[in-house]
Order: sequence, then structure tokens, then C-alpha cells
Amino acid sequence: MSRIHEALKKAEQERAVSQGGSAHSSFATPERSELPARTIDEDPSATVATGVPSGGIPLTSAMPSFANPFGLDALLARCPQLQWKPDATMLFFNGDDSAIGTEEFRTLRSRLYHMREKMTLKKLLITSALPKEGKSFTASNLAQVLVRQHGRRVLLIDADLRGPRLHLMLGTTASPGLSDYLQGRSDEFSIMQRGPMENLFLIPSGDEISDPAELVSNGRLKFLLQRVEALFDWIIIDSPPAVPVSDASVLGKSCDGVLMVVRSNATPVDMARRAREEFPDQALVGVVLNGTNSASTPYSRYYYGASGKNVTETKS
Ligand SMILES: Nc1ncnc2c1ncn2[C@@H]1O[C@H](COP(=O)(O)OP(=O)(O)OP(=O)(O)O)[C@@H](O)[C@H]1O
Ligand SMILES: [Mg+2]
Repeated sequence: MSRIHEALKKAEQERAVSQGGSAHSSFATPERSELPARTIDEDPSATVATGVPSGGIPLTSAMPSFANPFGLDALLARCPQLQWKPDATMLFFNGDDSAIGTEEFRTLRSRLYHMREKMTLKKLLITSALPKEGKSFTASNLAQVLVRQHGRRVLLIDADLRGPRLHLMLGTTASPGLSDYLQGRSDEFSIMQRGPMENLFLIPSGDEISDPAELVSNGRLKFLLQRVEALFDWIIIDSPPAVPVSDASVLGKSCDGVLMVVRSNATPVDMARRAREEFPDQALVGVVLNGTNSASTPYSRYYYGASGKNVTETKS
């Protein structure tokens, strides 16, 4: 076993212990304050309106300390620290936790922790049927709200090698990044950037390439995820639209779950259905209804979509 692999394994064990889980569990037990206010009703036709969820930020879990020189902190210190200049759609960078849309992302976080009680859920693919439905918006804001919880470390990956956006939204460089790793040109620590938000790491798309479909299916992405999984509480992966190209369904096979974004008043139903069919039933953990009109809907609503999965709204 390599020293890095040994350190990763130890890091995972220490992390699990520090967060109250067993040393053998591969993800943290959800905090009590993360549990949603209501129990999930499995009736797929039900529509539930509710108030502010109990998505409080737990302050109790301490970061693990790694005494050995090949521990977690030493590994992550190898990632370049860059200046990011996030744009206005990055909701959690300006310190205003009451900005429009932030509550919906806290709600989404709560629902995901709730799902995590029932299944292994760390590597989450964000996709949608068509372009411009809010995949990158959702992936990046979800990653931010997840690290707002003390001690939670999140890796955000731009796996949309056809139309990468995360580096633009976060105001940083696109290279080196995923495509460089997939071509064997960079190692995992040189492509993982750290920005100003503690515990949020980004793997941008990397240099533009001509063969995205071949690259995402060459097996190296799965290998990458296996290598870095132990370092993070969540890995959020942004993807291209699922209907026109096959990348998202290939990426989905390396993930624990898929979150489908549907743009309010925009995504045609048959397209949403086609996108959904790209993924096995058990992989779909929920649907985000993006860009609802704040004036016409209650502050926060949840629905159960097809097959009884959660639906969370985000507002524009
Ligand atoms: N709820 C929202 N509120 C405000 N702006 C939004 C919202 N959702 C998306 N946007 C904006 O709409 C544009 C398209 O969103 P985004 O880039 O996230 O879509 P996408 O599904 O990732 O598109 P593509 O398939 O081209 O990658 C972006 O400028 C984004 O900032
Ligand atoms: Mg996108």
C-alpha cells in the first residue's frame, strides 16, 4: 500500500471517529439538527408545504487532528490556494445568509442528509435534461451551503467538459483541471484548488479537449474519486445536460446518487422524463425545481416527484 493510500485510509478512519461514526463507516452520520422537521411520506402523489426546515448548522463536530506528517492536512496543503472572484449568483460568499435563495439551499442540504440516513451518499451528480437549466448554479451553491457547516469538507468537480462554467461562476482559472488529470498530465492534488471559503475545494474542467465522451468514460474519473473520497464529506459533480449527450449517464455510474435539476416553466415534461430514464431508479435521489417565482409560491415547498423522491425548489 502506498504512503498516500495509507494516509487516506487513516484520514477516513479518524474523520469517521471525530464525527461520531464508526471507524469503518464511509460517511458521517447525519447531525440531529440536520434531520428534516417532518417524516418522509412515501406517497408519490403527495405535495407537502412546510415552513423553514431544521437545517441548522451544527457547531459541535471538531475537525480531526492528524499528527502524522502524511495526514489529511498535509495532503490538502499540496493543493494550490487561489484568489477566487465569485459572481453574484454564488450565494454564500458575501456572508449574507438571508439572501434570496439561501434558505432553499439549506432545505436541500437537510433533505440530502435525510437521504443519507438510508443510503451511502457522498458522491452526488447534478444534472438536468437540457442546457441552461441551472445545473452549475445548483452544484456550486449546494457545495457552498454544505461547507457552511463546521468541519464539513466538500469537493466540487466541473465534469462538464463540453461547456464548463464553474470556474467562471467562482471567478478562477479552469486549468489545470479534470481534463488534465483524465489525460494523465496532472495528479489529483495539483488540480484541486482551494479558494477563500474554508473547506471548499474545486476541480475545474481543465484545458479544453476534443473528445469529452472518451475522456469521462476512460476509467480515470472513477479512480480519481476513489483516491480522494476519504478526504471529503461530500463530492458534488456538475455535468452536461443528460438528453443531448451521454456523459452524465456515464458519470452517474461513478456516483452514489443523482440530483436532477428542472427549470421552472422551461423544461418540457418529455425532456425531463427522458433525462430521468438515463439513470436507474435507485440512483435518483431528488429533483430541484429551479427558478420558481418567489411572489407566487410560499417561501419553501417540497414535493415528492415520480418514484417518491424529494423535490426542492430554488428561486431566481
Ligand atoms: N435560480 C437561479 N437564480 C438566478 N440565476 C440562475 C438561477 N439558475 C440559473 N441561473 C443562471 O442561469 C444561467 C444558466 O444556469 P447554469 O449555468 O447553472 O445552467 P446549466 O444547466 O449548468 O447550463 P449548461 O447545461 O449550459 O451547463 C447562469 O447564468 C446562472 O447563473
Ligand atoms: Mg453548467
